[in-house]
Amino acid sequence: MGRFDRYFLMECNDIVEYVLQKYEIFAEDAELSVEEIGDGNLNYVFRVQDEKNGASVILKHSGIETRAKSGRHVDTDRNRIEAEILMLQDKYVSGYVPRVYGYDPVMCCMVMEDLKNYEVMRGALLKFSIYPFFADQITTYMVNCLLATTDIVMDHKEKKQLVKSYVNPDLCTITEQLVYSEPFGNFAGKNYVVDELKDYVEKEVYADQDLKLEAAKMKFGFMEHAQALIHGDLHSGSIFINSKGLKVFDPEFAFYGPMGYDLANVVAHMIFAKFHSIALQKEGRDKEKFQEWIDSVIRESVDLFKDKFTKRYDELCTDCMAKTEGFKEYYLEGVIHDAAGIAGCELIRRVVGVAKVKDLTEIKDNILRMEQEKKIISIAKEFIKNREKISSGQQFLGIVKKNL
Ligand SMILES: Nc1ncnc2c1ncn2[C@@H]1O[C@H](COP(=O)(O)OP(=O)(O)OP(=O)(O)O)[C@@H](O)[C@H]1O
Ligand SMILES: [Mg+2]
Repeated sequence: MGRFDRYFLMECNDIVEYVLQKYEIFAEDAELSVEEIGDGNLNYVFRVQDEKNGASVILKHSGIETRAKSGRHVDTDRNRIEAEILMLQDKYVSGYVPRVYGYDPVMCCMVMEDLKNYEVMRGALLKFSIYPFFADQITTYMVNCLLATTDIVMDHKEKKQLVKSYVNPDLCTITEQLVYSEPFGNFAGKNYVVDELKDYVEKEVYADQDLKLEAAKMKFGFMEHAQALIHGDLHSGSIFINSKGLKVFDPEFAFYGPMGYDLANVVAHMIFAKFHSIALQKEGRDKEKFQEWIDSVIRESVDLFKDKFTKRYDELCTDCMAKTEGFKEYYLEGVIHDAAGIAGCELIRRVVGVAKVKDLTEIKDNILRMEQEKKIISIAKEFIKNREKISSGQQFLGIVKKNL
């Protein structure tokens, strides 16, 4: 039996031998170096570089326990799911995801393109960088990947096979708890907010029974609605970007769920970037330009999603009943309502829950942070409670602006 025929948690000094044994990627005279570059909570990410010829690849390796050593055990099958989803999405929207060179279900390790010429979008937004084509690019990614995997387009038996392959119980449990439960009741007692915000959250979130009821409805929508193969974690930390294009990565939360989930994450994290800029960007022309661009992304992510969805639906629809006049509009309305409500859940959970975003934690002055977080909670509540009346980008933006 070879060294890599039975799973163990690899470290930096195992990686060269592993790559050379499993893959013919590097030249024979390669001089390989390895660095662990992971900064997430779940997995180990290694860059393997040929110092002589310049080539490099990324290895993503899953441990049985999370990298954050949280004591939480998460099924290592997430590595297979991530690799397969990236390969599938490369067919639906070529060039918008990192290329996967292979994955190994024994060692729970995938090998992919090194996106060293891109920057993780969260970091870029924290520096107030502007990407004029972002809304157009991310809606192309979403519409192509999501619509193609629905019963509208895909053979229904084939779709059910995909539902089966991507049942993702451990990662879905995380979402069910952290996005749809804990933010509304602090059931596990692990939520955290700055002291200055505590009373507000008790009253405006935990004690709001109408809000809790709407969140409960949405939780069951998430668990019971196998609509499309969603990314499941499409925030700005899952997007590599540069001036020319973007690559969506880290789809380990993928499963068959409501497609509004992905759009919701895009919009919610642009809202976090907006409040980060409101709090910390120096007043002046650059701030105005950044704010205008963020507003345009909030509006256009929704409107371009709708436009592209409408067009692609007509081109791709195969189901005879889905061609019935009025059905497309009914279906798309539902997606946008879902997106509004889910964006609300995402906004609240990043303020009160355990998994924070740097956009807010970088605001070191607690009073300033609390002021932004109160506004975010107001926006979120309106998104959740009025979601069935929200159907355009302008309405999303209107709610944000009303609460500034
Ligand atoms: N293909 C790639 N090319 C270059 N760098 C990468 C690549 N994939 C991941 N990275 C780097 O590794 C970091 C962690 O990757 P990733 O977010 O996929 O890990 P994770 O453990 O799933 O994180 P999380 O806990 O956020 O889910 C990224 O933020 C990025 O800096
Ligand atoms: Mg991840």
